[in-house]
Amino acid sequence: MTTDATPAFMTTGRVLHRATAYDVLVWLLTHGRESAFRRSLARFAQLSTGESVLDVGCGTGSLAIEAKRQVGPGGRVAGIDASPEMIGRAASKAAKARLDVRFQQAVVEALPFDDGTFDVVLSTLMLHHLPRIARTQCVREIRRVLRPGGRVLIVDFDRGQGHGLLRRVHRHGHVAAREIVTLLGDAGFQPTDEGPAGMGDMRYVLATSPLES
Ligand SMILES: C[S@@+](CC[C@H](N)C(=O)[O-])C[C@H]1O[C@@H](n2cnc3c(N)ncnc32)[C@H](O)[C@@H]1O
Repeated sequence: MTTDATPAFMTTGRVLHRATAYDVLVWLLTHGRESAFRRSLARFAQLSTGESVLDVGCGTGSLAIEAKRQVGPGGRVAGIDASPEMIGRAASKAAKARLDVRFQQAVVEALPFDDGTFDVVLSTLMLHHLPRIARTQCVREIRRVLRPGGRVLIVDFDRGQGHGLLRRVHRHGHVAAREIVTLLGDAGFQPTDEGPAGMGDMRYVLATSPLES
């Protein structure tokens, strides 16, 4: 586990800073079963041993850490978030789990990776934090850092509905699955799978980047 010290980048996205409170919230929303929730999210991406994975807007790193478990020692996992507090907590969690996951402060509008670096990019509950223009930039950047034929998994709230705590938490934002499909299609991706993501009206979209760039 390492944390690269990089300068904070400007973003029009809504950046979260209360990292511990975020984990408590997820624990409450998942009724104490966050690990199972993250395992099922990672499964939607159909991760294989040895793959290289990037989690954008990784928050406190739970999904990136689960991805590392699934790709194994030969796989490589990185996570970026605009929030230094989220990155700090993610790095501590990976260290505690003794897993080598590289967390770094960065923005999705300008990913600090070379073209074609990753087999898979994950983005969960992050897209609704971005205004429309930044969503387009984000998806273009995801395509750039994916190898040809690589996969992207995007998960978000579909209609911003739900019950109880979930409703109060995410009433501020959602991105409908059909909008995600359009966004990905406009960037040249081929959507391959879509479905409910296991909590409230959350849905996932899986897509493949073109074989030729
Ligand atoms: C609701 S959290 C989701 C975190 C994590 N993916 C999860 O599934 O729990 C959204 C995250 O996106 C981050 N974020 C917002 N705008 C961003 C940007 N432009 N670049 C990178 N991260 C951003 C926030 O700081 C926050 O950690």
